[in-house]
Amino acid sequence: MQLSNQLVQWYHQHKRDLPWRHTTNPYVIWLSEIILQQTRVEQGLPYFNRFLEKYPTVSDFAAATEDEVLALWQGLGYYSRGRNMLVTARLVQELHGGVFPSSWEQLIKLKGIGEYTAAAIASFSANEAKAVVDGNVYRVLARYFGISEPINSTQGKKIFQQMADEMLDRENPALHNQAMMEFGAMLCKPKNPACGICPVREGCYAFKHNATATLPVKINK
Ligand code: ADE
Repeated sequence: MQLSNQLVQWYHQHKRDLPWRHTTNPYVIWLSEIILQQTRVEQGLPYFNRFLEKYPTVSDFAAATEDEVLALWQGLGYYSRGRNMLVTARLVQELHGGVFPSSWEQLIKLKGIGEYTAAAIASFSANEAKAVVDGNVYRVLARYFGISEPINSTQGKKIFQQMADEMLDRENPALHNQAMMEFGAMLCKPKNPACGICPVREGCYAFKHNATATLPVKINK
């Protein structure tokens, strides 16, 4: 069985029940993805709930003041994320009349949204066939396939994006992406990955060569 199918099967059995997985609303998915960018799920969850309660739609968000947003953001760190969110919300209000876009092409034009976030929103909200490549995905691919190209080199980024695109399950991009990320977050962890209970270890390069500690490779720039 292909890696993608194996991970989806694992995901069905082991996924966490998280609120943003019950919606296809691109605004709500955007909110969750920005909050989770440099923040663990347990820490981000209460913030996600408070933001959604205070700003149920992107139009509500766009009408907020920066002070209000930063007050709600208090404690999350990386405050530029909060500021950029307000910029993006106002752009969506102006350019799209408050209808949050769900296509990758439209999302990437919003500036405040990069390739990763555009792929996450487009796949989770509209099942668009875009592969997400975040830290979890880098780790799973580097270990499973034994890729020692640095994940933060120009060449490395290209290689990993290409691999992720190729292995994307085009019938089920949302499910595939969630499964890759969840597997990386829960089982194929940066430190002490749970190889002992890993369902794909038989095909995993890093397991076979005892290399989980050295993959993925990151260069100091
Ligand atoms: N981290 C970033 N995006 C996530 C998601 N959709 N689910 C769980 N963790 C995440």
